[in-house]
Amino acid sequence: MINRIKGTQDLLDLTLFNFLIESVKKQLALYNFHEIATPIIEPTDLFKRSLGTETDVVNKEMYTVNTGADQELICLRPEATAATMRAFIEAGIQTIPWKVFSWGPMFRHERPQKGRYRQFHQVSLEVIGSDSIYQDIQVITLLERLFCDILKLDEYALHINFLGCAQDRIVFKKLLYDYLTTLTQLCDTCIIRKEKNILRVFDCKVKTCQELYADAPKITQSLCATCLSEWQTIKQSLEHLSVSYSHVPTLVRGLDYYEKTVFEFVGLQLGAQNAFCGGGRYNQLATIVGSKQDYPSVGAALGIDRLVLLLEQKKDGLLIPQKPPLYIIAPFSKEQFDIALLLADELQAQNICVDVLLEGASFKSMLRHANKAGARACLIIGPDEQKAREVTVKNMITGAEEKVSQRDVAIFLKA
Ligand code: HAM
Repeated sequence: MINRIKGTQDLLDLTLFNFLIESVKKQLALYNFHEIATPIIEPTDLFKRSLGTETDVVNKEMYTVNTGADQELICLRPEATAATMRAFIEAGIQTIPWKVFSWGPMFRHERPQKGRYRQFHQVSLEVIGSDSIYQDIQVITLLERLFCDILKLDEYALHINFLGCAQDRIVFKKLLYDYLTTLTQLCDTCIIRKEKNILRVFDCKVKTCQELYADAPKITQSLCATCLSEWQTIKQSLEHLSVSYSHVPTLVRGLDYYEKTVFEFVGLQLGAQNAFCGGGRYNQLATIVGSKQDYPSVGAALGIDRLVLLLEQKKDGLLIPQKPPLYIIAPFSKEQFDIALLLADELQAQNICVDVLLEGASFKSMLRHANKAGARACLIIGPDEQKAREVTVKNMITGAEEKVSQRDVAIFLKA
């Protein structure tokens, strides 16, 4: 027996998954985003440069392969933002803001647990080429309306922080460094992060460290005049739009390209892996990826697998499209297989959903099968029906049977 790879999933019923993707797509179309697709494999360097070499994703979690001959290192994408920016620059897109989204599998070699997989799915939306902070507000609002009004999620919260501009972070990092130097009980990871990627100390899961950081300086207290005004605008505007949020001063996000706005939507029932959507502004990414010019941008990614976990508990209240009614053709024996296939072919051409039972099962077991499959009716073809060019239509709900000419079956079923 060969089992699936640890941290991957066999998705054997995609009803909820597809409903989710379609709902997100519909919502994004309303806000004039259009769909793109980028490769699943990308040069490893793209993520090293954009996410940062000291981030967990690049440091520990990349699926990288050496392709041999040309010595090029390629990897399975861990996220889509850097690739979207690469595509934008590579295609020389001139019309900005470029409002796009893509969706598909991402890969991170993390320790698997509920809601955390090594292959997972994101919808990633990006507004490339706009430094208007109001775009950040619109992205957050479209997500809030999707989660609350369309997907009917209730037990969740929106966490927001503002990381300022590059200059603000230089000032803040110095303040934080001095503060951490006064502490004596930092965990080993925080001691390393203090030197290598100091903002990430806030992501530490150790309780004693978290307690110490409650009194740490807050980045929103080190903002320059422009950033302070933008931060105030975001808060006020979200209030005007009735989008509830909590300011979480320790929210820094795990990827290095962020500045200014960062946010996460967290599910209160999801356990340790509670963020089901995260995003923020990334004004320097274009030049990091190789553009000669800056393209300030903002975006977010929805964790589809975590949203599926949240929706599973409340799927009965959702407007999931009904499957079309199913009709099962039950030929008595091999002699009727040809006519059964012919009838199926005619009905399918008229958009009627049909399955034919071709395994030579007994009449009783074919009816049982149709019942289990939730068929609306069974179309029985025995030797008598074959001779008379008819089928017996057995209504699987009432049990009523009616003989119908083979020529008229489609009209009969549609009626
Ligand atoms: P991220 O926070 O790394 O951001 O991922 C976004 C979402 O993907 C998370 O909130 C989570 O729901 C889901 N996710 C991440 N890792 C896993 C995993 N191992 N298993 C299951 N779900 C996971 C980004 O990826 C950024 N590119 C978002 C962005 C777009 N920022 C700007 N534009």
